[in-house]
Amino acid sequence: MMHVLNSLLPTMIIICYFMPGPHTCVALQKKNSCHVHDGIADCSHLSLTAVPSDLPSNIISLDLSHNRLKGIPPVSLAPYPGLRRLIVSHNSITKLDPGLCQTLPLLQTLNMEHNQVYVLKKEDVNHCTNLTWLIMASNKLKLQGEPFSALQRLKVLDVSLNKLRSAKLGTQTQLPNLVSLNLALNDFTTLKKDDFLFLEHSSSLLVLNMSFMSLKTLEPGCFTPISGLRTLIMDGSNMGTLGFSELCSELSGTAIEAVYFRKMKLATLTNTTFKALQKTNLTYLDISHNDMVTIGDGSFLWLSRLQTLILSDNIIKQLNKNTFQGLKSLKKLQMTKALVKHHYIPTIEDFSFQPLSALESLILQKTAAQKITEHTFTGLTSLKELDMSWSNYTSLRIINNKTLVSLAGSPLRKLNLTGTAISQIDPQSFSVLKNLTMLLLNNNFIKQILTGKEFEGLDQIEEIYMSNNQQTVNLISTSFVNVPNLRVLTLGKTLKAEAVNLDPSPFSPLTNLTFLDLSNNNIANIREDMLKGLAYLKVLKLQHNNLARLWKSANLGGPVLFLKHSLSLVTLQMDSNGLDEIPAEALRGLGNLRNLNLSSNLLNSLKDSIFGDLNSLRVINLQKNLITAVRPEVFKTPLSNISLLVMDKNPFDCTCETIMWFVTWLNETNMTHVPGLRDQYLCNTPLAYFNRSIMEFDPLSCKDMTPFQTLYILTSTAVIMLMVSAFVVRYQGWRIRFYWNILINRTLGFSDTHAAEGQEFEYDAYIIHAEQDSSWVERRLSPLENDMCRFCLEDRDSLPGMSQPDSILDNMRRSRKILFVVTETLLKDPWCTRFIAQHAIHRDIEANRDSVILVFLQDVHDYKLSRSLYLRRGMLRPCCILDWPVHKERVPAFHQKLLMALGMTNRLKD
Ligand SMILES: *[C@@H]1O[C@H](CO)[C@@H](O)[C@H](O)[C@H]1NC(C)=O
Ligand SMILES: *[C@@H]1O[C@H](CO)[C@@H](O)[C@H](O)[C@H]1NC(C)=O
Ligand SMILES: *[C@@H]1O[C@H](CO)[C@@H](O)[C@H](O)[C@H]1NC(C)=O
Ligand SMILES: *[C@@H]1O[C@H](CO)[C@@H](O)[C@H](O)[C@H]1NC(C)=O
Ligand SMILES: *[C@@H]1O[C@H](CO)[C@@H](O)[C@H](O)[C@H]1NC(C)=O
Ligand SMILES: *[C@@H]1O[C@H](CO)[C@@H](O)[C@H](O)[C@H]1NC(C)=O
Ligand SMILES: *[C@@H]1O[C@H](CO)[C@@H](O)[C@H](O)[C@H]1NC(C)=O
Ligand SMILES: *[C@@H]1O[C@H](CO)[C@@H](O)[C@H](O)[C@H]1NC(C)=O
Repeated sequence: MMHVLNSLLPTMIIICYFMPGPHTCVALQKKNSCHVHDGIADCSHLSLTAVPSDLPSNIISLDLSHNRLKGIPPVSLAPYPGLRRLIVSHNSITKLDPGLCQTLPLLQTLNMEHNQVYVLKKEDVNHCTNLTWLIMASNKLKLQGEPFSALQRLKVLDVSLNKLRSAKLGTQTQLPNLVSLNLALNDFTTLKKDDFLFLEHSSSLLVLNMSFMSLKTLEPGCFTPISGLRTLIMDGSNMGTLGFSELCSELSGTAIEAVYFRKMKLATLTNTTFKALQKTNLTYLDISHNDMVTIGDGSFLWLSRLQTLILSDNIIKQLNKNTFQGLKSLKKLQMTKALVKHHYIPTIEDFSFQPLSALESLILQKTAAQKITEHTFTGLTSLKELDMSWSNYTSLRIINNKTLVSLAGSPLRKLNLTGTAISQIDPQSFSVLKNLTMLLLNNNFIKQILTGKEFEGLDQIEEIYMSNNQQTVNLISTSFVNVPNLRVLTLGKTLKAEAVNLDPSPFSPLTNLTFLDLSNNNIANIREDMLKGLAYLKVLKLQHNNLARLWKSANLGGPVLFLKHSLSLVTLQMDSNGLDEIPAEALRGLGNLRNLNLSSNLLNSLKDSIFGDLNSLRVINLQKNLITAVRPEVFKTPLSNISLLVMDKNPFDCTCETIMWFVTWLNETNMTHVPGLRDQYLCNTPLAYFNRSIMEFDPLSCKDMTPFQTLYILTSTAVIMLMVSAFVVRYQGWRIRFYWNILINRTLGFSDTHAAEGQEFEYDAYIIHAEQDSSWVERRLSPLENDMCRFCLEDRDSLPGMSQPDSILDNMRRSRKILFVVTETLLKDPWCTRFIAQHAIHRDIEANRDSVILVFLQDVHDYKLSRSLYLRRGMLRPCCILDWPVHKERVPAFHQKLLMALGMTNRLKD
């Protein structure tokens, strides 16, 4: 009921702008053919010179706007008889063809805006009986006869900007269903008594637009035929004071409810300006943009039913207690930029708003006035909302217990003091605002420690917005003790860096808090208990702080798991915090979290299942990190139900282990929106994929890899084994053969027989020793010789005439055992080691016998032994290894052992 325009205009706008199809999109994506979807064909902006003939025949809407059509021959539309909407605006059409509506019998909307239609005759639209919208704005219309008389169903007629010389669109009564008529921007300056007679029976006409015309004369009774009119738009009419008072007189007694008198140069209002409107039920008056300086006392005295008054964008000098007299029904007073610094600073005198006892909303945005006193807002007994945002009132610089005291009688619920240059809030500044639920203090310069007393008396307060206060506010533990009902608290870009590092936490009294914004504060220290007790916290904004250290595993005392108290969180923002680690337990238990933002951090390798509890996640943002791998161990749970994924601008590593699962998931998911997937998700490594989209990575290549991988492993193992064997055979082959032989002998029992043994050999042992040790041999071994036991000593027993090597070999062959007298010197003797030892061992191996005896005069390392003699202790039986005892009394035992070693059978198996 308020004003029909409100309901009609938007519809008009929506239809006008959306009916022709997505104009705005067209500019973005250059198209070269019609876009058809759901029976709606968009052929706009195609430089067409004729109607396309190849569209689906069942389309109901066709947009041909912004082309080069010179006409629309009905024949060209014959293929589309079902059309209900036709938009041919912004072409060069000169004529509306009479056959058009015959071809399109169902046509309801015809938009021919911005063409060159000149003559319009009744015959041209005679058959358009189903038409409800006809837009002929911006043509060169010259009406002949009664062109609109056939349009029985027409609701909206727009003939604005047509150089029409009269408002009289016909002589007979017609257009019985017309709701809105737009005559704006035409050339007539006089409104005659009978101009609207053709609308006499248009009982539904509600909106008349006659903006931007130089109407000078209004004949008495000119509105009488349309006295049911509810909304009149006269913006930009240059009619002078006299013309204006005539206009009001003509409106007197009509059903008018809303008038738009913008840009009409109404510089001064007096107590007679609106007098004639007394006999109306006007509820809505917009007199913004009028360069209005003076509002005389009692100017609105006549508008007792007015509910909304728009005074925005004027230069009003002064308000006093008589200015708003009579506005006893006023609910909303909109004064954005109505009081501004000009040559003067406007004044709001005491009790200026007192007459407005019904006022609920007072908007003083972007205004300036000398001061606010203890009586400025007195009498606003219904006021619920006061908006003084971005205003310049010196009284607000320091708010104290007097500043807002004039609002004591108002049931104020919302106070908007955004951007009012507040620098200080004294104790009990808001204590009179017992009903206040929302306090906005954003964008000020508040510089103080909040002790808690500032908010004393705000018994009903639920939301305090205090963001953008220059990071000059400090907190103490009691800062919010007086506002325990708080649900929303924003302190973004407001706090000093250490403000929240308190015990107990300043937020601990706020048990009902659901929204906390601490972003942009450079906070580096948070205590684990900061959010303790905030069981209902749903939104936590911590972006643009410095919290990286708190989550480092190297942090002294371990990572600070400050989220463990806020398990109801739905939204968590921690972007731009320099985070390079997320502790395994940091996001534990956040089963309600739907929205997680960790973008613009330095996250690289994420621990398995750090997101494991985030079953409800719908939106995750990890953009601009250093993530290389997207592994199922980390991402399977959080991505399982996601609807929006933002992870672009990471240096992805495109290998099977790191990206295959992700690419497969991206290919399979159809529920998730991933913006920029094709061109913003790029591989950084390996080189082969550098700067290519991860979507170019072929997961199938990983599957094909599996047999190759097996093959690869098999071949490489084989090659390595072959190499190892070759090396072993080359350097340790003798030993293998040696053990092999032992094994064979043991199993198959090859051996020398007892009887044969003794006879076969001349000597019991061939003694190998260093030159230096001959004396030891002489003193210690030679005495052992007797009938039963003979040693072969090379010096003594070599066969004369034989070369030394041959002699050695021959003697060895004739000895049953070979006895090494091991000393360091022996091992260093190249002749001995290279030749004698090698042959001794060679023989030993050849003969498959266990014939070597080592007698150690010194302790010799096994390693040296093996290097020189190619023998290790472990290769011999323990009884064949003898140590020359240090203690004399053990010499007999040594002899005994030696004899046992010599006397033993060479058979390996006893
Ligand atoms: C108007 O539209 C109706 C269907 O909505 C159709 O039946 C009728 O024939 C049309 N009228 C004319 C004159 O074409
Ligand atoms: C209107 O103002 C004039 C003086 O400016 C005054 O004489 C007259 O009484 C006022 N009329 C009303 C109705 O207040
Ligand atoms: C104003 O509204 C009242 C009832 O609300 C009605 O009786 C009266 O006729 C209306 N006045 C005009 C001028 O329409
Ligand atoms: C408070 O004022 C600011 C600035 O004019 C505006 O953007 C905001 O919407 C207002 N807030 C409320 C809740 O009215
Ligand atoms: C606010 O008003 C004071 C004087 O009233 C003036 O000095 C100052 O420049 C104004 N500030 C703004 C932002 O308009
Ligand atoms: C306002 O504050 C001043 C000092 O800050 C104090 O003396 C005075 O009593 C307070 N007035 C009210 C009404 O609280
Ligand atoms: C304002 O608060 C008072 C008490 O604090 C209460 O009696 C009154 O009903 C409230 N008014 C509104 C409009 O809520
Ligand atoms: C929290 O809210 C509930 C209901 O919304 C209310 O009953 C309770 O008193 C509030 N608690 C505090 C401390 O304000």
